[in-house]
Amino acid sequence: MKVVAIVGSIREDSFNLKLAKHVQARYADKFELEILDLKPIPMYNQDIELDAPQEVLDIKAKVKAADAVLWVTPEYNSTIPGVLGNAIDWMSRVDKVMNGKPSMIMGASMGVLGTVKAQMHLRDILFASGLNSPLLPMNEVYVGAAHTKFNDSGELTDKSTIEFIDIVIANFQEWMKNYL
Ligand code: FNR
Repeated sequence: MKVVAIVGSIREDSFNLKLAKHVQARYADKFELEILDLKPIPMYNQDIELDAPQEVLDIKAKVKAADAVLWVTPEYNSTIPGVLGNAIDWMSRVDKVMNGKPSMIMGASMGVLGTVKAQMHLRDILFASGLNSPLLPMNEVYVGAAHTKFNDSGELTDKSTIEFIDIVIANFQEWMKNYL
């Protein structure tokens, strides 16, 4: 099984990237997780959508080939970061690579609410909008106070968070089978 992770932060020391890397390493025997890089993706422009840059075509091809998508989002100004919205805009047009593709969402922030508002918006965008991506029901992963939950090497060390994610990932694997 092949899953791609789309991380809504291009910051080198991103907690959300660390969270994606945790999933990649901890469940390596269960599925292959490729973390996609949003840094090279230019701003969406409808003028060029039919002749999209190669970076956009490459990332869309990876999403299309994946069995499922893991979204890992920070919260910026109570919603998803622009870098994530930009990637979604590209995926929503021409070759609509998220159509019917199962998804789940996680997010980390330093605040106590751990990206609740961003994830609410992302759920709406992915499922209710034209993207038509079925979303893992319930199983919401909010990693609040993220600065206290990773060590200096970037590893997730918070035991209850690790155990909770174990349960969610098991549920995701089971639920995803409906779409394979
Ligand atoms: C933030 N941050 C933030 N946090 C939050 O919980 N709610 C919010 O609305 C915002 N808004 C916000 C806007 C902008 C422009 C920045 C730069 C930051 C803080 C944010 O959660 C924190 O910087 C995270 O560490 C960002 O995620 P990464 O880059 O560590 O993955």
